[in-house]
Amino acid sequence: MNKHSKKTLIPFVALGAAISIAVGTTACGTHAASRGNADPVRGRYLVERVGMCQDCHSARDQKGAFVPEGWLAGAPLPFAPTVPMPWVGVSKPIAGLPTLDDAQAMAFLTTGELPGGRRALPPMPEFRFSAEDARDIVAYLRHPIAPGTPGDAAAAGAR
Ligand code: HEC
Repeated sequence: MNKHSKKTLIPFVALGAAISIAVGTTACGTHAASRGNADPVRGRYLVERVGMCQDCHSARDQKGAFVPEGWLAGAPLPFAPTVPMPWVGVSKPIAGLPTLDDAQAMAFLTTGELPGGRRALPPMPEFRFSAEDARDIVAYLRHPIAPGTPGDAAAAGAR
């Protein structure tokens, strides 16, 4: 390597170092965001669009539309099994998660286990959410927002 090429090489090495520091910082930031505080907006998405909890846990009117006051408040199920099987025909209230503390709710959503080693009966699915998903779901369920209510408009505005 002659004198000239050495000179041009140094700025590139410095640039490379700067880029790797920048990338490292960004990757670190993303990592922190995904592991940081509970995200109730993501929790709402998981409840309403992935777990479809409202299908069983929310009251409906006679046309089958959700009633805002009955949002995630527990409801009689509008369907039943066609063969004999263990079955609970009424869902529990999950707005505010009145029956479980955070650790119990996390355990239930990640393993299917309720306090005392009990398990929910069908048709409650035995979810196996990741810890991060469960944490976000719990954050949302502590303060759920019924779609179409003034609180919902405020939440949409905040996004
Ligand atoms: C297909 C219907 C259905 C769906 C979908 C459903 N559930 Fe349930 N869930 C039930 C029924 C029925 C029970 C009551 C089961 C029992 O008492 O053994 C129940 C029970 C529960 C309980 C137990 C409360 C307790 O202390 O016993 C929690 C918590 C719960 N559901 C949360 C959820 C969440 C969160 C979702 C969505 C991610 C969800 N459920 C989706 C039907 C459903």
